[in-house]
Amino acid sequence: MKTKLTLVALLATFAVACSPRPEVATYLNPNAPLEERVEDALARMTVEEKIAIIHAQSKFSSPGVKRLGIPELWCTDGPHGIRPDVLWDEWEQAGCTNDSCVAYPALTALAASWNREASALYGKSIGEEARYREKDVLLGPGVNIYRSPLNGRNFEYMGEDPYLAAQMVVPYVQEVQKNGVATCVKHYALNNQEAHRHTTEPVLDDRTLYEIYLPAFKAAVQEGGSWSIMGAYNYFEGEHACHNDRLLNKILKEEWGFDGVVISDWGGTHDTEEAIRNGLDLEFGSWTDGLANGSSNAYDNYYLAQPYLNLIREGKVGTEELDDKARRVLRLIFRTSMNTDKPFGSLVSEAHIEAARKIGEEGIVLLKNDNKTLPIDLSTKPRIAVIGENAIKMMTVGGGSSSLKVAKEVSPLDGLRKAVGDQGEVIYARGYVGDVTGEYNGVVAAQDLTENRSEKELIAEAVALAKECDWVVMFGGLNKASHQDCEDSDRYGLELPYAQDRLIEALAAVTDRLVYVNISGNAVAMPWVERVPAIVQGWFLGSEAGNSLANVLLGNANPSGKLPFTFPVRLEDNGAHAVGEYGGSGKVHYNEGILVGYRWHEAKEIAPLFAFGHGLSYTTFEYSDARISSKSMKEGGKVTVEVTVTNSGDRDGAEIVQLYVGDDESSVVRPVKELKGFEKVWLKSGESKRVRMELPYESLCFFDADQHAWRAEKGMFTLSIGASSDDIRATLPLRLK
Ligand code: BGC
Repeated sequence: MKTKLTLVALLATFAVACSPRPEVATYLNPNAPLEERVEDALARMTVEEKIAIIHAQSKFSSPGVKRLGIPELWCTDGPHGIRPDVLWDEWEQAGCTNDSCVAYPALTALAASWNREASALYGKSIGEEARYREKDVLLGPGVNIYRSPLNGRNFEYMGEDPYLAAQMVVPYVQEVQKNGVATCVKHYALNNQEAHRHTTEPVLDDRTLYEIYLPAFKAAVQEGGSWSIMGAYNYFEGEHACHNDRLLNKILKEEWGFDGVVISDWGGTHDTEEAIRNGLDLEFGSWTDGLANGSSNAYDNYYLAQPYLNLIREGKVGTEELDDKARRVLRLIFRTSMNTDKPFGSLVSEAHIEAARKIGEEGIVLLKNDNKTLPIDLSTKPRIAVIGENAIKMMTVGGGSSSLKVAKEVSPLDGLRKAVGDQGEVIYARGYVGDVTGEYNGVVAAQDLTENRSEKELIAEAVALAKECDWVVMFGGLNKASHQDCEDSDRYGLELPYAQDRLIEALAAVTDRLVYVNISGNAVAMPWVERVPAIVQGWFLGSEAGNSLANVLLGNANPSGKLPFTFPVRLEDNGAHAVGEYGGSGKVHYNEGILVGYRWHEAKEIAPLFAFGHGLSYTTFEYSDARISSKSMKEGGKVTVEVTVTNSGDRDGAEIVQLYVGDDESSVVRPVKELKGFEKVWLKSGESKRVRMELPYESLCFFDADQHAWRAEKGMFTLSIGASSDDIRATLPLRLK
């Protein structure tokens, strides 16, 4: 055997010596270390070629280096599904017949699942679709903090809490990138309103920046390892976020060690010299408003195109920054489009549809359920009235750049009809008219929502139907039209639009089995909350919306989502509106500071309509025997917190156990408590499980802006374990020595 092998080896050596294969350039060798490939490619490139790869050549692509066989880079929105292809240089549809996708639930719904595995499944599924469509960069996920319920883009983000958003973004990023597709986490940073998004300038202290608005981005970059990040439209400290020395050079690249690419938001670049100096690496979408209009074929005039080249040729700037940008873009290309070790991906697979449905079910939040109104009991062959435009309206078209062309979208009405089948009767009445359009960049919702009857007639019809049905389920809320849940505009107020309050009051007056399902990515006011026995937060759930909702309403799935943001009673109960500023076109002062969301409500003792972390189940959970591994902790140490959770009801279900930390004695303002741990646990009826959560020293810290460091003051802390921020089941003292 040994002789045979030696002989084979000899022959192989001989063959190589006789006909040497041409040497493969290092940059083309997938087995060579990444940095060696980057340096090798860079050394072969001309200045013109370096300039070419740092700006767009079309709406969504950059050119690569054809001469060297380095391919183009293709981006796609993001973040809820893979956007259909538009024309090379226009926003209109390219007219492809193979670019319909699965729409996954909006990121608020994903955050509401409080399930890291759901986030991983989301990332895996959407990553596979991006890969199949041969996209290299997925423009998402978004993790801007929910500061005000008026922000038209909150539905694309992960809620008001930095810890929750940070925990939920990481698996998404990791799983997408396993497909050789980069995530582009957006919009870095402080893009907390859509009104005047190109000119607004948040003004806030460093502590607020580091404690509230940066952690989710930092986690996406450091723990998730995101290969790219998108600069925001707004200003920060006098410079646009897309070329902002502090945000990009100092924090992202120096403090966090980011080696990836900063991509501008579409139309977010405004100045060549700032873009050169201040950390922007790849320019997209200039001379457009990011959504609709713009000069055609302006690419050579991009800030990082000819104007940059001119400055170099005139000797006004050197090439050091250019090399850094080109290096980063090459790294991204090797990680994505030139990655020879990536799977093929898949589009609209059964597994993806199933993932969308399952994530949707897990994100739905049961806000209220008096008299066990839900689930709907089919054993009595009930008549079910379904009311409201949102029961039939397609929600995957509209809302801005996250708009999709779906292979299918199951409406709530269709989902319920199918699930009920012949075990009952489902009858529909429109109830109100909201937005009857449905078009985005040439994708047209395949439905006609025209309605000519008056509000009075519509309410009368709905009320008459409600009177003769056993259950009344109204699907209302917002939609994806301008000034609703939509990019580039903010909501006008917290109230429900289209006179829905009047419809809800009228229905509540004639039935005691009214279920209101709120379809939105934002909190809404509910002045009728006492008169409606069951309320469900139904989000925008994508392709499988109707199936996910039907499963929860009928009890085939037990609701297990919890709110990733607070529902205030009134807009003034939100800190950004009480003491802060919101919506302005210039400087916008974040006077509420670190007291965002539940931190504000708790500090000011303002009861919310529904608290952060709130969500009910069709079963009940008991908490017992809460323990901590040690009553004290030292700097740099950690403790483990444990609690037993028992499913004390008669249905299987899942509970999200939340761990909050409050500092009892502090020389600086600290929130009453802050989320620092959570676990989602599945329990059969009657089953108990011990839930463990680790609490490292960092969980006790605040950001000391003077020292530019995270630190904690010695003394007592209170750890609160609860089913929501306002339903604490056990507290444990902890001393920091
Ligand atoms: C949005 C981005 C999006 C980009 C490309 C911009 O208007 O702000 O989130 O990725 O357009 O469509």
